[in-house]
Amino acid sequence: MGNEEHQKIKDGIKSTFDNVAKSYDENIQFIISAQKMVELIELDSDELHILDLSTGTGNIAVELGKKFPNAKIFGIDISDEMLNIARSKTKEQGIDNITYHVQDVENLAFGDMKFDLITCGYGIFFYPNMDRFFCDVCAMLKEDGKFIFSTFSEDAFQPYSKIFLEMLEENYGIKPPQRLENRKLSTEDEIQEFSSQVTHKKLEVREVEIKFPMQIQEWWKLLNSTGYQGLLSQLESNYEKFEKEYIEHLKSLSKDDSIEFNANSFISVLHV
Ligand SMILES: C[S@@+](CC[C@H](N)C(=O)[O-])C[C@H]1O[C@@H](n2cnc3c(N)ncnc32)[C@H](O)[C@@H]1O
Repeated sequence: MGNEEHQKIKDGIKSTFDNVAKSYDENIQFIISAQKMVELIELDSDELHILDLSTGTGNIAVELGKKFPNAKIFGIDISDEMLNIARSKTKEQGIDNITYHVQDVENLAFGDMKFDLITCGYGIFFYPNMDRFFCDVCAMLKEDGKFIFSTFSEDAFQPYSKIFLEMLEENYGIKPPQRLENRKLSTEDEIQEFSSQVTHKKLEVREVEIKFPMQIQEWWKLLNSTGYQGLLSQLESNYEKFEKEYIEHLKSLSKDDSIEFNANSFISVLHV
C-alpha cells in the first residue's frame, strides 16, 4: 500500500473523529480505561516530560495532568475537533500543564525532545505504518522511559461488533479499510511479538475487564460516536434501513433490549 493510500485512510480517520468529537465522551469506557492506565503509572521525578499520542478528547492526558501537576504534558491528535473538546475539558478542570497539538503520529514534530513517558490509548491499530511508528516513538524515550499503550482484547464488543461488520459487508458491501482489519494487538501473543521489534528491559501486559449492561439503543449511539461512524456514514440513504435491520437483529438475541457491553482491554507497559 502506497503513501497516497495511507493518506486516504488517515483523512478518513480524521474526518470520522472530527464528526464524532462532540459525543465521544458519552463513551465512558474510554474514561474508565484512562483512569486504569494512569493508576498503573509510578514516576518519581517532578520534572517529567510526557507525550500522549492520539490523545483524542484528552482522557489520558487529563488523568496524567491531575496525577502529575508538575509534569509538562503534550497531547497530540490528527483530529482538530477532538482536540477542541480536550482543550475545553482541560480548562474546565483547572488543569494547566497540558498543551494540545494537531500532529500525525507518523510524522511527529518534536525535534530531539525526549520523554520520560509516552502513552497511547486505543490508537496504534489506526496507524498504517504501525511498526515504523513504534520504533520511532520508542526512540523518543529517555533512558529508562516507558511506553504505555492500550488496545482492545479479542472479545471486546463481541458478538455485536462482528454481527455489525458482517451485516454491513453482506447487505451493503461496506467494509473497513483492509489495513485496519488485522493486527489489532488484541492478544497477548500479538502484543509480545509487536514489542519484540524494539529492545526493551521488560514488558508487562495487563488484561483489564470493562463490562456493564447496556441498552441496545445506547450501543447504537456508541457505534455512531466512535471509529465505526466512518462505516455508517458510507450507508448514506440506506442508513435508516440498516439501523432498523441491525437493531431488530440484536433485539431478537436479547430478552430485555439490553446487551452485556464489553470493552475488555490490554494495557501494556514497555520499559525501554
Ligand atoms: C479511539 S480514539 C482514542 C482517544 C483517546 N486516546 C482515548 O483513549 O479516549 C483514537 C484517536 O486516534 C486519533 N488518530 C488516529 N490516527 C492518528 C494519527 N495518524 N495521528 C494522530 N492521531 C491519530 C484519532 O483522531 C482519535 O482521536
